[in-house]
Amino acid sequence: MPADTEKRAAAQAAAQLVEDGMRVGLGTGSTVAFLLPALAARGLRGLRCVATSTATEQRARELGLAVESFDRLDRLDIAIDGADQVAPDGWLVKGGGGAHTREKAVAVTADRFVVIVHAEKLVDAIHGPVPLELMRFGLPSTLRRLGGRERVRIREGWPPSPDNGVIADLEGPVGDPAEVAGRLAGTVGVVDHGLFAPELVTEVIVAGPGGVEHRH
Ligand code: 5RP
Repeated sequence: MPADTEKRAAAQAAAQLVEDGMRVGLGTGSTVAFLLPALAARGLRGLRCVATSTATEQRARELGLAVESFDRLDRLDIAIDGADQVAPDGWLVKGGGGAHTREKAVAVTADRFVVIVHAEKLVDAIHGPVPLELMRFGLPSTLRRLGGRERVRIREGWPPSPDNGVIADLEGPVGDPAEVAGRLAGTVGVVDHGLFAPELVTEVIVAGPGGVEHRH
């Protein structure tokens, strides 16, 4: 199956998990772009959605999905999002679209966080680049403490977005994702990073040439 067909299959499987009245977190990216029409087509009643990016919010609204401010909901029944890497131990890398801070905030709020990917996202072990969101304030200091510009690449040409701070990528090998995640979380000036721990993830829906697989 070409990638888009697989993305659509994973997204359609995830859309089936949503029920009337649920509070739903909507991720960001090209796989989620297949989720939104699949969800809208179900015609569910009473959905309350929050979006992890302006792009998702706009598209969801166009499709008739009710999107609310995340300021109004402190619990979600389900959140559904894509990923850039999925490792066998359950670690994820997200943030290819630079939305990982909002995506993590929505994921931790949901009773179920469901990840939708096509088979090319499966990796043997998490590797760089790891997306970062950095504060603009004191950016040179943060970059120096992260290892300098050889280690951290700011996404040049990345359109400035009111959604996020400075989006960058931590290059190089990752080794132990838990150790790297802990170090990044403890670095002042790092808003958040794209490493998502296995405890965050309820289910990964992988669509590949052999069909759709649900990994719990
Ligand atoms: C955006 C993300 C995306 O979910 C991730 O990059 C996967 O995107 P796509 O579905 O386009 O491959 O984390 O910040």
